[in-house]
Amino acid sequence: MNIAVITGASSGMGKEFVSRLFSENDVRIGAPYDEIWMIARSSDKLNAISDSLGGKRTRVIPLDITLPESIEALSSLLSEEKPAVRMLINCAGMGRNGAFADQTVKDTHMAISLNCEALSAVTNVCLPYMTGHDSKRSASIINIASSAGFLPQPNFAVYAASKSYVISFSRALAEELRDKKISVTCVCPGPVDTDFIKTSKNDPNASFTGFKAKFVTTTDKLIPASIKAAKKGKALRVYGAGQKALHLTSKIVPTKLVLFFERKMK
Ligand SMILES: NC(=O)c1ccc[n+]([C@@H]2O[C@H](COP(=O)([O-])OP(=O)(O)OC[C@H]3O[C@@H](n4cnc5c(N)ncnc54)[C@H](OP(=O)(O)O)[C@@H]3O)[C@@H](O)[C@H]2O)c1
Repeated sequence: MNIAVITGASSGMGKEFVSRLFSENDVRIGAPYDEIWMIARSSDKLNAISDSLGGKRTRVIPLDITLPESIEALSSLLSEEKPAVRMLINCAGMGRNGAFADQTVKDTHMAISLNCEALSAVTNVCLPYMTGHDSKRSASIINIASSAGFLPQPNFAVYAASKSYVISFSRALAEELRDKKISVTCVCPGPVDTDFIKTSKNDPNASFTGFKAKFVTTTDKLIPASIKAAKKGKALRVYGAGQKALHLTSKIVPTKLVLFFERKMK
């Protein structure tokens, strides 16, 4: 059984990945998939997505992937079913806006646990099921990082650091898995119109404001571009002209200088 595993499948980018991959038919990413395994905490949202796709070829797996027992449950399910995981998309992620001093220990733990530990753990348990397929590419991994990971971000410090982890981890993993014919694509978007901003500001009416508002994109543009990058086996996909400029800046301008200008622009 060929499957795609998507974390954070209940909303935003993950939800868009589910619907796009449902109708995919490209051997480069192991599609079509017999099943798409959708992971998130909200079973009602996952069931609604499954129903909207006709209730077939999707599996609802309600898990809080920050819990060790959830990782064990996923591992057991994989061991029982022994599927060929042809695509893994690590999309679940969160962050809290605001000064670090105002964050709770719980907020900090949640961001690191979800963005770094859970992403790594899900990859760990899926990897044994990604090799050994008789095709040019065994499997693909898409890790959703963020342009926030390029540079330290005051007032979004933990989130930005956690996304630096995702970028570094993905780039290293891509090299490690090259000989196993598993591609790893790290996607770095800027602001995207999803529930993310509402969660990060803890405000159901929040939206991107100021400078960031000028760079907001939508999932219907970002997700096809991400899938295209995975098809090509690209290691890094920075999405959007503004984010590409930021990426270049982070490579050539000393961080101290960038932070100085950021401070002055406030
Ligand atoms: N939107 C942006 O501006 C933006 C920009 C750059 C990068 N990103 C990254 O893009 C990814 C997707 O975010 P999004 O914009 O699509 O936001 P979103 O709509 O808030 O989606 C977040 C997803 O993560 C799931 N999730 C949260 N905590 C979880 C947990 N403990 N266990 C399992 N699943 C959990 C949520 O589902 P449940 O609540 O049902 O668990 C939801 O499906 C994240 O990694 C985010 O950091 C977002």
